[in-house]
Amino acid sequence: MTRLIIHAGSPLAGRCLIPGDKSISHRAVMFAAIAEGETTIHNFLDGHDCRATVAVMRELGVTIDEITPTDLVVHGRGLDGLIEPATVLDCANSGTTIRLLTGLLAGQNFTSFLTGTAQIRRRPMERIVRPLRGMGADIMGRQNGKYAPLGVRPARLRGVEYDLPVASAQVKSCVLLAGLYAKGLTIVREPGPARDHTERLLQAMGAPIEVLGDTIHIERPVEPLRSLEINVPGDMSSAAFLLAAGAIAPGSLLTIAGVGVNPTRTGIVDALLEMGAQISYENERTESGEPVADITVRGGDLRAATFGGRDLVTMIDELPILAVAATQAHGRTVIQDAGELRVKETDRIATTVSELRKLGARIEPTPDGLIIDGPTRLMGGPVESHGDHRLAMALTVAGLIAQGRTTVAGGEVTADSFPGFEETLRVLGGDVGVEA
Ligand code: S3P
Repeated sequence: MTRLIIHAGSPLAGRCLIPGDKSISHRAVMFAAIAEGETTIHNFLDGHDCRATVAVMRELGVTIDEITPTDLVVHGRGLDGLIEPATVLDCANSGTTIRLLTGLLAGQNFTSFLTGTAQIRRRPMERIVRPLRGMGADIMGRQNGKYAPLGVRPARLRGVEYDLPVASAQVKSCVLLAGLYAKGLTIVREPGPARDHTERLLQAMGAPIEVLGDTIHIERPVEPLRSLEINVPGDMSSAAFLLAAGAIAPGSLLTIAGVGVNPTRTGIVDALLEMGAQISYENERTESGEPVADITVRGGDLRAATFGGRDLVTMIDELPILAVAATQAHGRTVIQDAGELRVKETDRIATTVSELRKLGARIEPTPDGLIIDGPTRLMGGPVESHGDHRLAMALTVAGLIAQGRTTVAGGEVTADSFPGFEETLRVLGGDVGVEA
């Protein structure tokens, strides 16, 4: 177990790059595997979760060359080229891996089994099993498909019309991938703008997918999916920790280069702007069908705000770090309509409250969100990651402004999504140490 040791220090300053987007990295490998020909992926996220996707795709017969840890070449096997895995597919701690893959496997002509860590085996799978069964999939799992391990038997799928009960990109993508193998049209309707990387990438690969507002249509391709060269943009969800750190540490001025600014992911930028943060985009461009920009943030005063509604999904992974920023904002910040936080890597409402309180934050849980009063002078102390990468990073940022010394136990999890997190903060002037 690694402990992160943080002291408040100088403002953050400078320019940095961040690792590739986690959601896009998973999808790039999975979709390249069922395309025809070779796909080169640059700036792949070399983190634990995406490594799990590479490992399971190899078990499914896919050859993946690692030119460097972040540059991969995937040798596509075509839509029907995957082979029956000889072992249980270990999705490690990655919800995206197990949920997207189950959709991809539901229409194959072989049997497969999927599992992951104890954390993954506690997370809800009924949300994907139910629509897949509605398409004719033959899936079993613990408690009649509520939890992994999951078993998938060969089945002939048929297209469905499915209204997502929650805005979830993992569920949406799972059904769309099954739709690639189904007879007839699959139609998915979403209640909020969940990240759309699956739609963008499949579209770029030539899949018959059509997006009409909240409704997505997909059909089995007649032509093979085309291979591509994919440049994965920097992960907004990783940038968020630096943006928040820069916004709350007085005197900071930092630029994060090459960040994906897909509007389904930029809720945290909008939220910080609404709180009065100074954030600007430069050098805006499009790479591999995704909008990208360099982002600059300056430290300053923040004011409280209320967040909720259908757009909350665009910052669902950023709420722990938003809560940290809110401890420094003047007034009462309210986060609502965020019940999904309860089924992430941890119950992030409970863990964010319990850990930030240890640092003196005035924060209350609600059934579907958080209430935070600020500003509060945080006091350093021992806190725990609970095995949750985003909580560990949010607490590290809190430590950068807390008086005295903060220690984050179980800090190794930052590498699930942001390998090099501590080093990046150090380069920007943060006082962050690592103790084995
Ligand atoms: C993801 C979707 C989101 C997000 C997760 C990554 C994806 O989960 O929280 O970190 O890559 O599709 P949900 O679909 O459960 O909201």
